[in-house]
This record gives sequence, C-alpha cells and structure tokens, in this order.
Amino acid sequence: MPLLAIETTCDETAAAVVTQSRAVLSSVVASQEQLHARWHGVVPEVASRAHVERIVPVIDEAIERSGVSRDALEAVAVAVRPGLVGSLLVGISAAKMIAVAMERPLVGYDHIAAHLYACRLAAPERMRYPCVGVVASGGHTSLLHVTSPLELERLGGTIDDAIGEAFDKASSLLGLGYPGGPAIELAAKDGDSRRFRFPRPLSRDRNTLDMSFSGLKTALRYQVRPPGAAADTPPPTGQLLADLAASFQQAAVDTVMAKVRLAVEQTGCDLVAVGGGVTANTLLRETLTAYAKDARLELVLPPRELCTDNAAMGAIAWERIERGEQDSLDLEVVPGLIRGSR
Ligand code: KG4
Ligand code: ZN
Repeated sequence: MPLLAIETTCDETAAAVVTQSRAVLSSVVASQEQLHARWHGVVPEVASRAHVERIVPVIDEAIERSGVSRDALEAVAVAVRPGLVGSLLVGISAAKMIAVAMERPLVGYDHIAAHLYACRLAAPERMRYPCVGVVASGGHTSLLHVTSPLELERLGGTIDDAIGEAFDKASSLLGLGYPGGPAIELAAKDGDSRRFRFPRPLSRDRNTLDMSFSGLKTALRYQVRPPGAAADTPPPTGQLLADLAASFQQAAVDTVMAKVRLAVEQTGCDLVAVGGGVTANTLLRETLTAYAKDARLELVLPPRELCTDNAAMGAIAWERIERGEQDSLDLEVVPGLIRGSR
C-alpha cells in the first residue's frame, strides 16, 4: 500500500504517492515561479497564500494520477523542516487533516534529508552509506556525512547566501528572470567563463568545509554597475552578458567543488550523493561527473525533476515507518535548520 507525501517548504506545492517498494506512482508539482518572478525571489507571504489555494487540488491530482483509491493510502508524510514557516504550516495542516479524517499515521520528514533520498529513488542499486551528501538549493548549501537515509551530520556549508539564492540575485543583477539558475545557465551558454575572475572565498582554506557566496554576488554587482555609476544603468547585453553569466556560474561551481573534494578527502567516502535545485545545473553536473570519474568515486546524480523541490522524495518517510516511527498530532514545523547555520 502506498503513502501520500506532501511538500510545501518553499514555493512549490507538491504531492506524491509512493509505494513501500519506493515506486513513485504519481508526483505533482505546482510551481509558483510566475508569482514570484516580478520580485526576483520568493515572497513568503505570497508563497503561503498560493499554497493555501493549491494544496487541495494538488493532493487530489496526485491521488487521481496514482490510480490508487484514497482508502488504499497507508500513511500521510509531510516535510516539516527546514523552510518558510508560513509555507510549511500549510503542508502540515493539510497532512494532519487528512491523517485525522482517514485515521492514518502522520509522518514528518526533513526536507534536506529528502533531497538526498532522491538519490535512493533514482538509483536504488547504486546508493549506499556512508557517503558524502551535497545539497545545493535556493535555501541551502550543505555538505553532509550521511551514514543512513535518516542520519546526516553537517560537515560544512554556506556561511551567508545559499548558492541558489546567489544565482537568483545574480540573475536579477543581470536583468534576467526568476528563477535565476536556469536563466543564468542559458545566458552563459556562449559565454567565456575566464573573462571575469570572480572571487571563490574560502576555496583554498583546507581547514574548513564552509563556503561563502555573498562576495561573489557583490563582485558581480560592481562589475555590472561600478560604484558611482548611474542607478538607471541598463543591464548588460550580448557577449558581455554571456561572459558575465558564464564567469559567475564558473565561480559558483568552483566554490562548491573545492569543498566537495575536501569533504571526500576528509571522510574517506567513495560515494557522493547530490540533491537540490542547483544540482540541475549542467556545468555543476558535468564537473561533478568528471571529478567522480577522475577520483574513481561513485556519483549519484538524480534526474533534474528529482533535484528541484518535489514530493516524491517524501518516500523517505517509509524509512521512518519501517523503524516503527510516526508522529502525533502535536507535530510542529521547524523553519530553521536543527543544528548550526545553513
Ligand atoms: O531545491 P529547490 O527547488 O528549492 C529549494 O529548496 O530552495 O531549489 C531552487 C533553486 C533556485 O535558487 C534556482 O535558481 C536553482 O535552484 N536552480 C538552478 C538551476 N535550476 C534551479 N541553479 C542553477 N542552475 C540550474 N539549472
Ligand atoms: Zn529544496
């Protein structure tokens, strides 16, 4: 019998139906990209309201597409942390309601762990533990030592902006759209990534697995509009735009890769599992693939639709159910990360 998973941590309203053998029977994602585009980033209040409007139709569609009857659902799983508090509350309220009405167990799960669990869904035969986990998204950039699907120790991560947030802000500075990642990737296609040497903070510091992206964003800002330039300076176009986008993208990828290499060295793990929206980026995927080949590591890289936010990765709730765990109706959302910074 399958479970229903619900995901509303940020700006995607998602629901999925997944069997205990981890077969994804349906996965529906309603993106709010267009709603947030004019603000060049997620507006929490707008996100919560949109979740309220969409959550019921999205759940209904996931159940309908799965081909199973409502009665056949065995449990209700929901992402409870980390995320935007208003967004999380919509998902958890819906999950509780369904769990009560249908008398089914309620099972909360961690969104970061779920991003890495997408690797288990994508390649069950290759995924194993312990491994190094890399989660790169709009809200997080974390390196983790993963000893089981539910046991993750944070090794390091960003000390300021998340990498996806940097892509989104850079895209806005370049006059491109939201979400920034795909827009920058497209603009960078024919660009020269060596034309501008943007900073890669902490990359050479072998004493830390932390990284920083805010200086990269500021460097791009000054390149686009130097101090003293008129506020209405038009955004770059043509080859200049392509070179700026390519140089920015290369610096962001280099910054993460430096710490992925160091994490592998320090942990001695021979498998790297990745997840999060930014891992949909072609340059990052190619760089990780080349590195894994070179270093003779196993790399598990989910398909793009499992990298960005979705509820299929809520299949991780089965790991808790199989341990005999479930949550009471007192389950609460936890907006921030449990340990340390992001
Ligand atoms: O995992 P995700 O869907 O949501 C969060 O948990 O944050 O990640 C969204 C982030 C956005 O910042 C978006 O710009 C970025 O992932 N992203 C990309 C690409 N596709 C999405 N960044 C770089 N290249 C991409 N192709
Ligand atoms: Zn995410």
